Amino acid sequence: MKGIVLAGGNGSRLYPLTRSISKQLMPVYDKPMIYYPISVLMLAGIQDFLILTKPEDRTAFEKLLGDGSEFGVSITYAEQDQPRGIAEALIIGEDFLDGEPCALVLGDNIFYGHGLPEILAEAKGFESGAEIFAYQVADPRAYGVVEFDGEGRVLSIEEKPRKPKSNFAVTGLYFYDSTAPAKARTLTPSDRGELEITELNSLYLEEGQLRANLMGRGFAWLDAGTHDSLLEAAQFIASIEERQGMKIACLEEIGYRLGYLTREQLLKQARKLKSSTYGAYLEKIAKSP
Ligand code: G1P
Repeated sequence: MKGIVLAGGNGSRLYPLTRSISKQLMPVYDKPMIYYPISVLMLAGIQDFLILTKPEDRTAFEKLLGDGSEFGVSITYAEQDQPRGIAEALIIGEDFLDGEPCALVLGDNIFYGHGLPEILAEAKGFESGAEIFAYQVADPRAYGVVEFDGEGRVLSIEEKPRKPKSNFAVTGLYFYDSTAPAKARTLTPSDRGELEITELNSLYLEEGQLRANLMGRGFAWLDAGTHDSLLEAAQFIASIEERQGMKIACLEEIGYRLGYLTREQLLKQARKLKSSTYGAYLEKIAKSP
């Protein structure tokens, strides 16, 4: 299975911060925002990534993440020249996917919670269809909204409904079988000019092939797309990291723990970054038994 991380969009809700930098490159406390969704796909066991960026931001992402070898993964890049929707990522990524199933994640979505690797492993184990993740929010009107029946089956899915049928928002993490690019190519742009991911998910629903996992209240799903949510996300990450002395979404640590990086490689990276608390943390991990 391969992974696609979408770091496009115009970031208009974060103006003027996003006038000179893509929001997915902005810090969420001690690391760039895009580290968080990448960490989720790494925890799902994915090692082969495509990062989709706006053309003007591609160099900055390449500078940040390189070919992925510092984390023990492979990263390649492609461009989305206009914000034409999340589903377009599957069309742009079709050659990269080369007939394999994929996980798609939005570059500004942050997931945190006990048991995350387990629910990801379960989702990754699917044979066909699509898996989405639902999360209860107080006001779901800014999101895709999924409605369930009593047995947890999906009844409907709607994009930014004025009158939501439930409080379950669809998060920006999706698992698709190999038919997703072909399905995405059949979509037409919505009123906001985008190929809507909700439309793609609706195609799977019509085929009886859409499953929704509920991320329970013990999880945190944050989308750092507004000034307030960006600050809140940073404070959330800082509080947990400080209390535990462990970092969230430290890609080198994840690569090391998954066996993609040797202790020596981790130490080398730690030494390179040694003037930062991030580097000191990597050194601590590399030297702990
Ligand atoms: C997009 C999707 C929406 C999903 C959300 C998650 O919204 O269209 O279904 O709930 O991401 O972050 P957008 O960011 O395009 O408003």
